[in-house]
Amino acid sequence: MNTIDLTNRYESMIYRRCGNSGLKLPALSLGLWHNFGHVNVYENSKNLIATAFSKGITHFDLANNYGPPPGSAEETFGKILKENFKSYRDEMIISSKAGYKMWDGPYGEWGSKKYLISSLDQSLKRMKLDYVDIFYHHRPDPDTPLEETMAALSLIVQQGKALYVGISNYQAQDAEKAFRLLKEMGTPCLIHQPKYSMFERWVEDGLMDVLKEHGVGCIPFSPLAQGLLTDKYLHGIPADSRVATSGVFLNEKNLTPEKLAVISKLNEVAKSRNQKLAQMAIAWLLKDDRVTSVLIGASKLEQIIDSLEGLNNISFSSEELKEIDSILAGKS
Ligand SMILES: NC(=O)c1ccc[n+]([C@@H]2O[C@H](COP(=O)([O-])OP(=O)(O)OC[C@H]3O[C@@H](n4cnc5c(N)ncnc54)[C@H](OP(=O)(O)O)[C@@H]3O)[C@@H](O)[C@H]2O)c1
Repeated sequence: MNTIDLTNRYESMIYRRCGNSGLKLPALSLGLWHNFGHVNVYENSKNLIATAFSKGITHFDLANNYGPPPGSAEETFGKILKENFKSYRDEMIISSKAGYKMWDGPYGEWGSKKYLISSLDQSLKRMKLDYVDIFYHHRPDPDTPLEETMAALSLIVQQGKALYVGISNYQAQDAEKAFRLLKEMGTPCLIHQPKYSMFERWVEDGLMDVLKEHGVGCIPFSPLAQGLLTDKYLHGIPADSRVATSGVFLNEKNLTPEKLAVISKLNEVAKSRNQKLAQMAIAWLLKDDRVTSVLIGASKLEQIIDSLEGLNNISFSSEELKEIDSILAGKS
């Protein structure tokens, strides 16, 4: 940590306004889903945060269940903050979420008021914080009335436990209902967090338009498709990669010959733009100004430095976009 220089942290980062709000987010944000659990090396987790912050990445994204074990990423982050960044709290945007299973019984997951309020209280204790900047409902709940879930989010803001609220993994129609409800309650939705990458484009089919219409920001998660949209798997499976070390959410079955052929072709397009594939994958999302910030993960600090270079060229010619579309559609 002592070796990481924070002096010029705001010199090169781009900050984008989040929807119609007053809040700006860095074009690249860091997520703590992997690599921050108690199973990981604390020193590495600390260096990832320090590296990101030293480069102007002011936004750190967590959830109640990140680890493993669940909850431990928040504990690790709280410890890193307390030991190294206590005086920088006002320069950071820290988010957490609740929606997935966190504890046993009927109140430990989904979208009831009981679960959301209890879960955020637990998250604040784990991170040793008085408030989070953004609190999300992590996934839609088919059984709880949307009114109850949104009222819980609104209450959390009124109580000062979060400054803003967001939703994640909501399809366009439900997202729109949620935005209307929140607006009526006087707590406009700040942001939506969907899965979006060159390999996962469902948001283009309606959601992005709804976000624009309602002035809600967008922070795509897994922009590198968990590492597939990089050159790392083109010559086998590195021992320190997510496929080799985690295997739960990404495994060898995701690396079919067809997928690798597509990755290889995309890699050639990236090279022709003087970018690495990871950089192009990030730039490809940021070409759309409705995207506020791209939410990456990283296991090594070099990956953060590497991904940041994607911000140097975020424009694409129409030929490049056509070629990428054609590769993704399996037509070239
Ligand atoms: N809302 C939700 O439901 C939801 C769900 C999932 C994630 N998220 C959020 O999104 C964040 C990011 O998700 P993600 O980790 O799947 O994102 P990602 O950026 O698609 O994948 C990150 C992984 O790719 C590899 N990588 C990153 N940069 C690289 C580079 N420059 N070159 C080569 N490899 C690189 C690393 O894996 P290895 O080095 O280990 O191979 C890294 O851990 C999470 O931390 C979380 O905050 C939200």
